[in-house]
Amino acid sequence: MNEFKKESEILLKKKQKEKKNEELLEEKNTKKEGIQKNEAQQGAAEEQGSDLKEKLVDSEFSIKGQCAINLLLTKLDIINTVFLMNMHRNVIQMKTGRLKSYSSVCKKLQKKGLELDFDTAVERINDLIGVRAICAYVDDIYKVSELIEKQKDIRIVKVKDYIKEPKKSGYQSLHLILEIAIAFQNGTQWIKIELQLRTAAMDYWANLDHQLRYKKGKKEAELIDEELRECAEVIGNLDQKMLEIRKKIDNI
Ligand code: GTP
Ligand code: MG
Repeated sequence: MNEFKKESEILLKKKQKEKKNEELLEEKNTKKEGIQKNEAQQGAAEEQGSDLKEKLVDSEFSIKGQCAINLLLTKLDIINTVFLMNMHRNVIQMKTGRLKSYSSVCKKLQKKGLELDFDTAVERINDLIGVRAICAYVDDIYKVSELIEKQKDIRIVKVKDYIKEPKKSGYQSLHLILEIAIAFQNGTQWIKIELQLRTAAMDYWANLDHQLRYKKGKKEAELIDEELRECAEVIGNLDQKMLEIRKKIDNI
């Protein structure tokens, strides 16, 4: 009897294992089909936007965009030097510039329900050309922003202050949508460029949040979303506290 019980238990376990494997395989196939479908849709959409690709990549636009990036990075260098002379510390710790990749442009246009068209992209996407500067303290961000606003060859198109009003995700940064003047052979052209200013702590947060954005829609991602939101608050408080301490040190 015992033998029989043992054998039927083994059989039952084997059946359960087989069923689980079948379920796992089915789940894997469904996921694969989903990914293939998404890739096909993305591919078809990108195909449709071939004019967009031509005008965006290795084009007059990308050369001029790179000029705008270089100019803004140099301006930030000078601003940092000016502060370095007065305050004896680096206000800007790091800076980078980039042109938005073709596939990111397509994704953003699709997300906004817009046509995959070059003029639409230039008009509706602010960060086709972008620079990011990382500051140590929150007040440095506003000091840099003030000096940027004073430049004669820069126009402020829009200010999005996600430090004063963080986004629902918890995201904090100061975004300046600018136009920067560049003298080309056939005259001066104002080129739109987004400058993102944030602290090192905000940048640390945003990089991890960015990784999560690729995994949105999954159950685990929602839980992490909430954890990250809490972290954003901790980081906001930490930045504030560090600023207070630095000010106390400045006054010694
Ligand atoms: P999208 O939100 O990207 O559609 O752009 P938008 O035109 O609505 O402007 P917004 O100011 O919301 O975002 C511009 C850029 O800021 C994005 O391309 C990201 O680089 C950054 N950003 C905005 N929100 C978030 C966020 O919640 N997390 C992270 N990591 N970055 C964000
Ligand atoms: Mg947005």
